[in-house]
Amino acid sequence: MLEKFSNWKSKAEQEKKDEPIRLDNVPKHVAIIMDGNGRWAKKRGLPRIAGHREGMNVINKMVRQANSLGVEVLTLYAFSTENWKRPKNEVDFLMRLPERYLSVELPKLIEENVKVRLMGCKDSLPTHTIKAVDNAIEKTKENTGLILNFALNYGSRDEIVTAIQAIATKVAEGKINPSDVSNTLVSEHLMTSELRDPDLLIRTSGEIRLSNFMLWQLAYTEFWFTDVLWPDFTEQHFLEAVNVYQQRTRRYGGI
Ligand code: FPP
Repeated sequence: MLEKFSNWKSKAEQEKKDEPIRLDNVPKHVAIIMDGNGRWAKKRGLPRIAGHREGMNVINKMVRQANSLGVEVLTLYAFSTENWKRPKNEVDFLMRLPERYLSVELPKLIEENVKVRLMGCKDSLPTHTIKAVDNAIEKTKENTGLILNFALNYGSRDEIVTAIQAIATKVAEGKINPSDVSNTLVSEHLMTSELRDPDLLIRTSGEIRLSNFMLWQLAYTEFWFTDVLWPDFTEQHFLEAVNVYQQRTRRYGGI
């Protein structure tokens, strides 16, 4: 029995990874749980924030790669509602990353027709973080290319609870009937209301869980997990994930 498990290979390992990418079947919405920054830093004897800094630099590469492949939406899990539990210096550093990133990258994002978007609860974000993101949203609002959707202070259960509250209020006010509540109506009340659901979810660092990320939206998404730590993630890994995606057969519950 043990022997059987020692030969176990993850689905990602078993799947072929080096077929040419077919541009007619690129996942239109790719969502990424960027994990492993802390471990990357620890392995090098560096403070955890060094891992986050390095992780921020990977974002550029992924934006370019996604844009060149024709991906329409790239959602990045940058800070969860649970991440507030981290040491204050780490949280403060993470909250500075959007402005650090955007102060350098915004001109390029504008030029490359990327549209910046935020998904998450703005209320408890520091003013300087909101200012940087709002400025980027404003300056890119007319862009029609890749949507770069930052999940910041995002938690999927909170998102669903807020949607239920809004729908329940409409029912209580007589604006809709309980029988009007449908999949579509729920989707319309989520923070992704105008986006399609992710086609491909990537999680780095070997963790095989969702960590309160897009629980509703990922119902029919293809998952790809890798042991690579986020700061080591390259364009080649992204292509590998897309390659594996292209070999999956999406059945949506059918046969
Ligand atoms: C998880 O790794 C990563 C995060 C909580 C932060 C991710 C943020 C970035 C990659 C940069 C964001 C940049 C912008 C511009 C918004 P971890 O710290 O949990 O790693 P570990 O599991 O190895 O400790």
